[in-house]
Amino acid sequence: MEFDALKFENDKLIFIDQTKLPDEEIYISTDSYERISEAIERLEIRGAPLIGIAALYALALSVKENKNEFEIAFERLKKTRPTAVNLFTALKEAKKFFYSSEENQNFSSLLKFAIEFHQSDKNYCDKIAKNGAEYIGNNFSRRLRVLTHCNTGALATGGIGTAFGVILELYKRNSIELVYACEARPLLQGLRLTSFELEKHQIPYKVITDSTAAFLMQKQMIDLVIVGADRIASNGDTANKIGTYSLAVNAKFHSIPFFVAAPSTSIDSKILTGKEIIIEERNPEELIQFGSKKVLSKKIEALNFAFDITPNELITGIITEEKVFNPPFDFRDDKNS
Ligand code: MRU
Repeated sequence: MEFDALKFENDKLIFIDQTKLPDEEIYISTDSYERISEAIERLEIRGAPLIGIAALYALALSVKENKNEFEIAFERLKKTRPTAVNLFTALKEAKKFFYSSEENQNFSSLLKFAIEFHQSDKNYCDKIAKNGAEYIGNNFSRRLRVLTHCNTGALATGGIGTAFGVILELYKRNSIELVYACEARPLLQGLRLTSFELEKHQIPYKVITDSTAAFLMQKQMIDLVIVGADRIASNGDTANKIGTYSLAVNAKFHSIPFFVAAPSTSIDSKILTGKEIIIEERNPEELIQFGSKKVLSKKIEALNFAFDITPNELITGIITEEKVFNPPFDFRDDKNS
């Protein structure tokens, strides 16, 4: 399946509105960095790597008429979502590039930068898939029943995906029996988006409620858990979609290996532990609806954290484009100095 969650054509960013999937495949075309910022906030564009990529196209568009818009767009994009480090890494690298030479301070140079960044994420996905499938293939003899959470595929990245990419590669190697996809309340990225991608690849799957996972583990129906990441601290603590932590605790209790798959752009080597990660809190209104349907008409009090943090001791391995890291994890930049 060739699939572009977003592409840049005729000086416009064209993206699938992920809030409408899978019922409607609606493409939005824009040359406005403000519209792209809103798309990131509303989760029309989502998934840690894809957010970073979209932000770079937005920055390029911001300087099309006037290069002084760069800083305004930069600040606007920075405020869209707080947890995925990919956004901040991408913005920081673009800023360095922009100020490194006067020749870089225009639309076409920034666009080239965005395209290269997009391509490198695609390559990272391919390498993560290969590294993960090889490692897992060497350590398991049976065809696997894999549990995953949220959506980590082509809709969340510039390529085939991270955790999803590993699953896809395992499937191509005939090593997948079944994928269990958690629905991922409240915005249902698993129910709506992962099922959509699994269907497209014809990978056998079943969607489960998030709270079903522990029961399946207890019944020995799951061999392995693979999830993505929004930010990985130097010690391996990992922020990912809310519910990931409880999957990891349950996996540990049932002695089921728990893997995180993510590109190096998801590693925040500046922070030591997960305690330093800002966790996005979203509008509680999202909780009282199921898709676009309101479950309640009256207003209720609710708490809507978008992510949680899985401590490193619950993680069997972190799969990146470089290799599969095993504990103890140490992603500090200066660890060898
Ligand atoms: O709120 P979302 O849908 O952007 O959250 C996405 C996730 O939590 C993914 O698991 C993570 O970004 C990794 S995507 C390769």
